[in-house]
Amino acid sequence: MDYVNYKKGTAAVWAGEGDLEVQGAVTSPIVNSVAFSYKDLDEWYDVATGKAAGFIYSRNTNPTVAVLEEKIRVLEGAEAAIAFATGMAAISNTLFTFLGPGKRVVSIKDSYGGTSKLFLDFLPSYHTTVQLCETTDHEQLEMEIAKGCDLLYLETPTNPTLKIVDIKRLAMAAKKVGAVVVVDNTFATPINQNPLQLGADLVIHSATKFLCGHSDAMGGLLAGKKELVQKVYQFREINGASLQADPAYMIGRGMKTLELRIERQNASALTIARYLKAHPKVNNVFYPGLETHTGHDIAKEQMRGFGGMMSFSLDGGYELVKKFLPSLKLVHLAASLGSVSTLAGTPRTTSHVELTEAQRKLLGIPESLVRYSVGIENVDDLLEDLETALASL
Ligand SMILES: Cc1ncc(COP(=O)(O)O)c(C=O)c1O
Repeated sequence: MDYVNYKKGTAAVWAGEGDLEVQGAVTSPIVNSVAFSYKDLDEWYDVATGKAAGFIYSRNTNPTVAVLEEKIRVLEGAEAAIAFATGMAAISNTLFTFLGPGKRVVSIKDSYGGTSKLFLDFLPSYHTTVQLCETTDHEQLEMEIAKGCDLLYLETPTNPTLKIVDIKRLAMAAKKVGAVVVVDNTFATPINQNPLQLGADLVIHSATKFLCGHSDAMGGLLAGKKELVQKVYQFREINGASLQADPAYMIGRGMKTLELRIERQNASALTIARYLKAHPKVNNVFYPGLETHTGHDIAKEQMRGFGGMMSFSLDGGYELVKKFLPSLKLVHLAASLGSVSTLAGTPRTTSHVELTEAQRKLLGIPESLVRYSVGIENVDDLLEDLETALASL
């Protein structure tokens, strides 16, 4: 059954599930089978050649993974979706499917560190021309797109300073030159933002983050136009970056509560961002839900909620942050984000660890920046925790 006409909270629970009923089980089974057997060769041949529905080999397709793929397909309003072993596998498979010798990609300077590495190191070594623009300079982005490109790659909100790029505006520019538009929607999630509805062709998620939501499984997802997803699928089939059934089940289970978690995280993050903004020991708060955020107007247009991620800088340097972070009680000092528990870190130790202090400065990332991923704890407890830690400085 197709759940596209249902609300997101309903689709997240039901999409993909009904196809795999086993003796009335109310959850889909974890099918840890590498291969699928057939009684006769004609039936096997029809499935293998795509004439009949079914599964052959789990590097290509797997019933449990298919449940997850259907959930993201419906939540993103896409024609097709496929899963990967990690978010980086989804990103690199997509980029290497459409780029290569003689191709040109336009993107922003603020993408996730791993993606930046593909743009700065790996793609150039495959003779792809990479043009990275100032993230919020839409005129420069439009100018570079108009010169001609094969792919436009965006991420919004960005990691770690939560910059916002106008998907609709840039997708329109990309359409004029026939470029494939890809958006990393990890920070927003499909609850808060649907890039395909804003003109993107493909949307990517690190499912390791909010979609899974519990920091206990890794995965990546790609959704969008069938013809394009199929091309990436053919590449993934051969390079083997597929998702296993166990993490697919964990991520799918997490997604059933995605709307509940995101609504809570949206509300808590806005409350916390406003509190921090008014605090004398806090210099700057980067959260697109704040009216003072430079991307607030665009965010209001293209997002339904502003998400659970924020960053802020303290009035003092890295030494102060070193004192502040360990004094928080309701926080894991850890590299990831998007979990039920609050996580915090610094770009210096997480997303931008590979860069020098000067390179981080160039990207507008202060050494005293704290990246704060709001969990689903009661917001009063989180506020008290921050208040106590800031008072101790
Ligand atoms: C925005 C964004 N995209 C992609 C990734 C990569 O995802 P994964 O760690 O699942 O490979 C991350 C990881 O932090 C991220 O923050």
